[in-house]
Amino acid sequence: MSDVMKQQIKDLLKERNAVLLAHNYMRDEVQEIADITGDSLALSIEAARTDADVIVFCGVHFMAESAAILSPQKKVLLPRADAGCPMADMVTAEELEALRAKHPGVPVVTYVNSTAEVKAHSDICCTSANALKVAQSLPDNELIFVPDRNLGRWVARFVPEKKFIFWEGFCPTHERMTLAAVQQKKAEHPGALFICHPESAPEVSAIADHVCSTSGMYEYCRTSPASKFIIGTEAGILYQLRLENPGKEFILASPALFCPNMKLTSLEDVLLSLQTMSPVVTVPEEIRAKAKRALDRMLAVPRD
Ligand code: 13P
Ligand code: SF4
Repeated sequence: MSDVMKQQIKDLLKERNAVLLAHNYMRDEVQEIADITGDSLALSIEAARTDADVIVFCGVHFMAESAAILSPQKKVLLPRADAGCPMADMVTAEELEALRAKHPGVPVVTYVNSTAEVKAHSDICCTSANALKVAQSLPDNELIFVPDRNLGRWVARFVPEKKFIFWEGFCPTHERMTLAAVQQKKAEHPGALFICHPESAPEVSAIADHVCSTSGMYEYCRTSPASKFIIGTEAGILYQLRLENPGKEFILASPALFCPNMKLTSLEDVLLSLQTMSPVVTVPEEIRAKAKRALDRMLAVPRD
């Protein structure tokens, strides 16, 4: 049944000249049929450069919104309109403006896990893959970082010469990974390397062998001579880690690493979305143009 459905999806993608982008946290079967899988940065780059007419975004709302901001001439479908990100809703444009008013002239760096409206009120965006480079690229010695307090504090450690003003947003999924849970896994698997996402709580990141974005984890595990890894990010990442590294062992750091929003999208949803060409994600032009400026600035920061 699911093979038939996968074929129907492939046929419709072709018919509609559509590209299927899937985040690394998506269900295994959705990642399997995607044209491109990646982290937030890789998917934004792809959304900006694809020549498809339609982008089917298997991820959460802010990601589809970023695609709509970067590629306004394309139709952007988010198969599950209810797939949101709680962190993105932790700061509003009004709250950001109030914070800015308290710190006149200080630039705002906004994690892409945010609404289009918040991006529109920002100077530059960042993802977990380029947050440090973005912070380093700014000439200012002070900056406002929203909404993720954990990513912000992790980046701040590497640029001690800059003063950071944080917003207290967070990812509930990563914050459910406790230090005790990680320590238990480390005790059960002595010698395994512990790798976590910078959205993790500071006490968890502090004991990691490596902290990086989801795509950074693929690179690290592929090139590391180690054979056993404790993974501190959403469980969906295990699909490709295991596929790409059959001789290596991957252990999830905590059973709580499960993002309900990232798990909403099923193959049925993708098929229905392509059949009905909905739900469509759009951004009002006035917001889009301003948000695009912040995303474009991020994309212009040299990657290496
Ligand atoms: P990255 O893939 O950019 O590391 O994103 C993590 C995330 O939480 C997306 O929701
Ligand atoms: Fe949002 Fe965290 Fe889920 Fe990513 S993993 S979508 S940051 S709640």
